[in-house]
Amino acid sequence: MPELALLEQVMDTVRPLLGQGKIADYIPALANVNANKLGIAVTSIDGTTIGAGDYLEPFSIQSISKVFSLTMALCHYTEDEIWSRVGKEPSGQSFNSLVQVELERGLPRNPFINAGALVIADLLQSRLGAPKHRMLEVVRSLCDNTSIRYDNKVAASEYQNSARNAAIAYLMKSFGNFNNDVDTVLQSYFHYCSLRMSCADLSRAMLYLANGGKSFTGEQLVTRVQTRQLNALLATSGLYDGAGEFAYRVGMPGKSGVGGGIIAVIPGDLSVCVWSPELDKNGNSLAGTAALEALSQALGRSIF
Ligand code: DON
Repeated sequence: MPELALLEQVMDTVRPLLGQGKIADYIPALANVNANKLGIAVTSIDGTTIGAGDYLEPFSIQSISKVFSLTMALCHYTEDEIWSRVGKEPSGQSFNSLVQVELERGLPRNPFINAGALVIADLLQSRLGAPKHRMLEVVRSLCDNTSIRYDNKVAASEYQNSARNAAIAYLMKSFGNFNNDVDTVLQSYFHYCSLRMSCADLSRAMLYLANGGKSFTGEQLVTRVQTRQLNALLATSGLYDGAGEFAYRVGMPGKSGVGGGIIAVIPGDLSVCVWSPELDKNGNSLAGTAALEALSQALGRSIF
């Protein structure tokens, strides 16, 4: 477990990078976030959380929610049912790309690009009575915080700008890889993305990835093998087209979101979440990546 002073030092090291990235501006609700926010929280497998900077301030988790949806799908479907609908390979394309979906006949490369996450949301829609409600329950219980909320303004604004995600979903439907009404699934998907959580919440919620599937509150959420599989997919596809660079610099399974959050884990040791809204060219938090790199260097830890 790192010392608090180390986290503060990491924040000081990366603060000069603020101003060098670009905030996601495809919806106003995200564009209006203060660019200078910077936070980090670490939860160790003994359940202790420490944090520095703006680590208690909730932000829009966006694509980090794709980890929760895949985990929920693993709890309700067999491996075959999931992996016949979505692949396990890095995409080599931007996260919201359409071309690959057409070329590969409606089978998304992995569950962490938008196409793959939409298929997972479609699966959850089919088998869960009220998927939005269930997602909120699961996430709240994972970090032991009942105040976690959806940001309905962000979800509504995403829905008003949903042309690309709708196009991806309809294209998959044309290939027979999407079962529910597209609008209904988009609404669920945008709500998952709109979850507001702090670095402290997220580092706790992701602890199961570091602890063989056992959550912060002691529940065995997924098996040890499923946890290893989740981490393998996060290491290869969690940072989109920046997964190689992230593996090289940070060396941890991780997942980013356009809200500027990144979660990462060192299996058997700790889960960490960083937040800084400005993004690099791949859509990953610029200062956040640098903070994780500085942390892994200071700890001398990597999965490689
Ligand atoms: O669907 C979208 O495009 C957004 N709601 C989420 C994208 C996202 O966070 C991708 N991350 N880097």
